[in-house]
Amino acid sequence: MLCNITLHIEDDYTAMSQKAADIFAASVRGNPAGAYGFATGDTPIGMYKILIDFHLKGCLDLSGINAYNLDEYHPISKNNPNSYYYFMRKNLYDAVGLPPTSTFIPCGEAADPLKECMEYDEKITSTGGIDIQILGIGTNGHIGFNEPDDKLNAATHYVPLAEATIQSNAKNFGSLHEMPRHALTMGMHGIMMAKCILLLASGEKKARILNQALLGPITTQVPASFLQLHQNVIVVADKDAAGLLKLV
Ligand code: PGA
Repeated sequence: MLCNITLHIEDDYTAMSQKAADIFAASVRGNPAGAYGFATGDTPIGMYKILIDFHLKGCLDLSGINAYNLDEYHPISKNNPNSYYYFMRKNLYDAVGLPPTSTFIPCGEAADPLKECMEYDEKITSTGGIDIQILGIGTNGHIGFNEPDDKLNAATHYVPLAEATIQSNAKNFGSLHEMPRHALTMGMHGIMMAKCILLLASGEKKARILNQALLGPITTQVPASFLQLHQNVIVVADKDAAGLLKLV
């Protein structure tokens, strides 16, 4: 049984992106000066394209929001096309007129990553809880770069990437050698503090972990399983990702 989780199962990636964009846009229209949490990865790109389309058609104004991102590789230059800073400017922020002064992301260039984490955590805490936090889910159950482990961190932290994440993301860097081995990530507290979580999942490769996250035991080995304890989670999945959910 799904407690506190609203599940939308859509036909395919396009329909999933549309549903997620509609939910997100409705929230921004209700609170156009709110704090919104964004995610990187392949999954939200379709949703971001639709948000850009809404903006171009004049039916969504994102210019008043403050935007927070979950995570960033470390070390990485902002100009590196694989940095999450670059990803967000290219796939959303520049296109909807969000200036760098209202977008926040842990800095992959920080000389002192621990200090950067503390400062980022202060920013997140000062929001009093992000209005909607968009999340993807890793095939290993990570959210942000909160990787499966014997324990999880509450605070924004500097983290070695799990082998599964390195293998899965190295394709973007061209080679394993180029792939950073660490990241800065919002911790479980920052994520769980969000007033609403909007989790997107697409494709058969997410089916096993989505089932474990939503219906399996709550365990640090599947960080996304902690979302079962959140009061307001919306999951938008396509049929392939939802294919192993046993809802009865
Ligand atoms: P993906 O990544 O959207 O590229 O599948 C999700 C994640 O790792 O959080």
